[in-house]
Amino acid sequence: MSQTLVVVGSQWGDEGKGKITDYFARHADMVVRYQGGNNAGHSVAFDGKKYSLQSIPSGIFNPATVNVMGNGMVIDPLSVLRELKALEEKGIKDYQLFISTRAAMVMPWHPVLDGAYEGNRGEAKIGTTKKGIGPCYSDKYSRIGMRIGDLLEPDYFRERLEAALAVKNPELRMLGLPEFNADEVFDLYMEAAAKLRPMITDTSALVNRHLEGDNNILFEGAQGMMLCIDHGTYPYVTSSSPSAASAPVGAGIAPQWIKTVAGVLKAYCTRVGEGPFPTELHDEIGDGIRERGHEYGTVTGRPRRVGWLDAQVARYTARLSGITHWTVTLLDVLSGIDTLRICKGYELDGEIIENPPSTIAALQRVKPIFVELPGWKEDITGVTSYDQLPQNAKNYLAKIGELTGVPVGLVSVGPDRDQTFIVADELKKFIK
Ligand code: IMP
Repeated sequence: MSQTLVVVGSQWGDEGKGKITDYFARHADMVVRYQGGNNAGHSVAFDGKKYSLQSIPSGIFNPATVNVMGNGMVIDPLSVLRELKALEEKGIKDYQLFISTRAAMVMPWHPVLDGAYEGNRGEAKIGTTKKGIGPCYSDKYSRIGMRIGDLLEPDYFRERLEAALAVKNPELRMLGLPEFNADEVFDLYMEAAAKLRPMITDTSALVNRHLEGDNNILFEGAQGMMLCIDHGTYPYVTSSSPSAASAPVGAGIAPQWIKTVAGVLKAYCTRVGEGPFPTELHDEIGDGIRERGHEYGTVTGRPRRVGWLDAQVARYTARLSGITHWTVTLLDVLSGIDTLRICKGYELDGEIIENPPSTIAALQRVKPIFVELPGWKEDITGVTSYDQLPQNAKNYLAKIGELTGVPVGLVSVGPDRDQTFIVADELKKFIK
């Protein structure tokens, strides 16, 4: 009987999911990405080398692991080829990668439109990665999108391309942007298709075949729950749902396969781009965390906004994603802070509220209610088990469990693969 583990970001993305997914991916027979695209970005460090991934699943480093880019993703074929080339240049040549025929395909006008919409939003800009994610998902749902499988049928691809351009070129013209030529796009994508063809397949069938065997299957979420198109801080969100609830749809499996969900929780909070952030720090504690945690975007290089851990957000995302364990990352970054704070709840217009409000207007008015805990001075980057942690670090983790109702299952104290230890026995079954 196969076992499944979903890894989801529980805050605003950049929780260190890459590191946690990599930790489990080494023991996985299959790793499946189910939403988002190359707006995700993370680096993985091992054997003294640093690798960067955007849309490719984290199991790519292990030749025995089958990697799947699921139907729920938005995939830019040219970007996939660039990512593969960069990996191959660093010696990652032996891999198994499959791309869903049903995944939405990022076309060259999507990043252009993403940039143009952002420009037109002025002060109200979302701060997107400008990879074309929103415009591509919009076209999918407007049913004028193109899909990866179209690449396998050149005549059909051409037909779909012309239908899409009949809608897109007038829009580009209206925005004062250059139009796209069908012949040029056709040639560019057919060249990519020639290279990707062996990888393009019905991945839902592939994943289900693996589920029927005796395999460790990891579902890798991208971004974080507060960037969820449905449950996040709309409109300052991405255009998909990073929730574990979207794994079945985005991978093409039945929901009852999902049992264990690891929520990646950074020991503090960060956010890139615009939007409300109730526990944001604007002082030297925040600056110190940003520097020690290297909180600068992997995709865009932007400095991330930094704040205290928000247990209100964690409770909310745990409920929405069915999180069974927290995997707490970057705990080491908090070393040396005298007094730590965790937001235990929000007050809105003089009342304590149970759940984050739905509008930005209300979220901007919430006041975080903090609990304070004494910090620890010790460098914990060499700690290899829970028992070795300073008592105050243990207390901090216990507080997370108490405030969220979800136990801490794994702790990460540095970027390296070895700086990770499991606390909850149940997660050990995913380690072979
Ligand atoms: P988009 O996904 O490029 O449309 O960007 C929408 C919002 O999600 C922006 O605030 C981005 O900064 C944010 N975002 C997208 N991907 C990530 C990620 O992987 N980590 C953190 N933030 C992200």
